[in-house]
Amino acid sequence: MVYVAGIIVLAFALAVEAKVGDSSLSSFCSESDECLLYNLTCKGVGYEVRRYEATKWASVEVESVFMEMAISKAFWKLFRYIMGSNEAGIKIDMAAPVIIKGPDSRSMWQSSGFTINFLLPSTYQLNQAPVPKPIDSAVSIIETPDMQVYVKSYGGWMSFISSRMQSRALRSAMDAAGASYVRGYHYDVGYNSPMKMTNRHNEVWYAVEGEPVCAV
Ligand SMILES: *[C@@H]1O[C@H](CO)[C@@H](O)[C@H](O)[C@H]1NC(C)=O
Repeated sequence: MVYVAGIIVLAFALAVEAKVGDSSLSSFCSESDECLLYNLTCKGVGYEVRRYEATKWASVEVESVFMEMAISKAFWKLFRYIMGSNEAGIKIDMAAPVIIKGPDSRSMWQSSGFTINFLLPSTYQLNQAPVPKPIDSAVSIIETPDMQVYVKSYGGWMSFISSRMQSRALRSAMDAAGASYVRGYHYDVGYNSPMKMTNRHNEVWYAVEGEPVCAV
């Protein structure tokens, strides 16, 4: 009886710990102790489909012309929050990736809304501790729903240009496959600090609409 209960507890722990976990479980997420985990749904031509569970993030919204400017404006607010600028006064470990939600297209000088999100460590994902309340009102704690995304990975550095090129390439691949996805915005997903010079990994995501389309 105790043995069975033990197995159930263990199975439960493994299941609930499946969304943010040790970076050794990820092949391309190596700079932080913990990384966002997913299940691969399938592969298509030029993309893959993944499922992510509901996830908590520290988040800042900014109006900006370029993604780079949006990131630098939001980064320090989020960084201060994890360094202890929160009501509990505690330091929060950085986890990967950082996700930027931004619009697909805009005229060159028109500013638009970006949301920059820092992933919270598993302790907070699993409600083992209350999420420290931000002091800066620009920082909010959000929870993204359980979702499936179309993903394209690429190396090098994430920028306004690479984001544009990669999101366009992913849209072409999805369109060619007849996939339905949420249009108008995408996610730029970064796993590396600017100091890392080799084996960099970035992604672009679109949210799946309806049933995902896989390669036949
Ligand atoms: C992946 O699938 C397993 C088994 O169904 C499940 O326990 C786990 O929560 C899933 N993880 C994600 C991130 O969807």
